[in-house]
Amino acid sequence: MAWSPAQYLKFEDERTRPARDLLAQVPDLPDGVAFDLGCGPGNSTELIRDRFPWATLSGLDSDENMLVAAAKRLPGITFEKADLASWVPPAGASLFYGNAVFQWLPNHLTIFERLMSALVSGGTLAAQMPDNLGEPSHLLMEETARSPAFADAFAEKTIRRNPMPGPATYVECLAPRAANIEVWHTIYHHRLANAEAIVEWVKGTGLRPYLDTLPEDRRDAFVASYTDRIRAAYPAMNDGKVLLRFPRFFIVAVKA
Ligand SMILES: C[S@@+](CC[C@H](N)C(=O)[O-])C[C@H]1O[C@@H](n2cnc3c(N)ncnc32)[C@H](O)[C@@H]1O
Repeated sequence: MAWSPAQYLKFEDERTRPARDLLAQVPDLPDGVAFDLGCGPGNSTELIRDRFPWATLSGLDSDENMLVAAAKRLPGITFEKADLASWVPPAGASLFYGNAVFQWLPNHLTIFERLMSALVSGGTLAAQMPDNLGEPSHLLMEETARSPAFADAFAEKTIRRNPMPGPATYVECLAPRAANIEVWHTIYHHRLANAEAIVEWVKGTGLRPYLDTLPEDRRDAFVASYTDRIRAAYPAMNDGKVLLRFPRFFIVAVKA
């Protein structure tokens, strides 16, 4: 199933906030090309363009729909279709920036080593990944998939991503080529309209592979069953809104 820029951008402000927080920690760039990896519909690319208007900037994504949306949003910028799992980064880059993409790549530690090698001295690798597999929003997708109503469809399939390694693993991976490394977690608490809004949010990202596994005529029932669970796990506050707790992991490594 292809990505939907419109679904993804329903929560553009909330989704772009970690992109902004990541970019705020990137130091000034040396000469070289800057890349927005997993650029999506161009929301993160636009931030990089605004922060470094003089830099040569390129966006990269594996999804055609996202690339079309990005090119429409930022006509002056070059966007390239590529799969980061196999992409060979050109030498001489000043920035590899990836907001909310590397969690989709199980071998991202190997990719990080490749990216660090391709940076010029003083260039930066900056990445943010959701660290939310232990949150009810994600656990309940799996619970729904394993429930009697849907277990048959998921019997042969593992959708759940492997847990991320701890921060020390990332530091040890990057340290041999880095002059400086910062790693940190931020836990966001997004105030959303109701439980259904949480479901809409994950429909743009983590729920996609589950729905993709099901035949079309079973998807609505899956979403309804998952929504019931979400309603119980995220009770409404006095104003009817809910808080979506969302931990994210950040890395900023500057090449030696
Ligand atoms: C959650 S969106 C992030 C979009 C944007 N960077 C942002 O900050 O909001 C993740 C993007 O990564 C892309 N992506 C996922 N796996 C990829 C891969 N293996 N290679 C390149 N792009 C990938 C998806 O197509 C999607 O556009």
